[in-house]
Amino acid sequence: MISLIMRNEELVESIKLPVNGALLFAIAFLLYRIVWPAIPQPKEVPKSYKDGYSWMPDKHPQVALFRQYTPMELKKYNGVEDKRILLAINGKVFDVTAGAGFYGPDGPYGNFAGRDASRGMAKQSFDADMLSPVEGPIDPLKDLTSEEWSNMRGWEEHFTNKYIVCGELVENDAI
Ligand code: HEM
Repeated sequence: MISLIMRNEELVESIKLPVNGALLFAIAFLLYRIVWPAIPQPKEVPKSYKDGYSWMPDKHPQVALFRQYTPMELKKYNGVEDKRILLAINGKVFDVTAGAGFYGPDGPYGNFAGRDASRGMAKQSFDADMLSPVEGPIDPLKDLTSEEWSNMRGWEEHFTNKYIVCGELVENDAI
């Protein structure tokens, strides 16, 4: 019994030490915060980041579905008829909407929007004859030199790293 009283006294004495007192205070504060968190639990699912750490966007983000596009279909995605901007290089269709500053109606490369840009990329040219008519067959690019091919493949790689590949270009009568 005496030793128990002694231990209690030691305990009280040890709490009186500033360092132990501070630690006890910190533990009590942390326990308090666990039970009553500083950020109250939201009553409904938050819709924006500032309303809570975990939140749900209002609607599902747009999903890019990989599919086939004909030159005629691709044409509409030129940033004017449709705000989405697509272009093709070497049979790959890229969603370049994120680069609207480049490919939008007022952008320096707006001529490629909605089109097969392969020849222009290969020859580093914006000339009108770089774009084959959308009603016709896909440009076979048979006449390109090896330097032009590697030029175009360089752009293809750049676009693959930067944008979403959302489809393949197929002939107008293929689908
Ligand atoms: C006077 C000649 C040109 C100048 C001064 C120029 C300037 C530029 C600049 C500053 C960029 C931005 C680079 C970046 O921020 O990553 C760029 C990107 C680009 N340029 Fe040019 N350019 C010229 C000619 C051309 C030509 C002839 C073509 C091909 C037909 C071309 C196609 C592109 C493409 C495809 C991009 C990439 C855009 C993207 O990342 O979406 N440029 N150019």
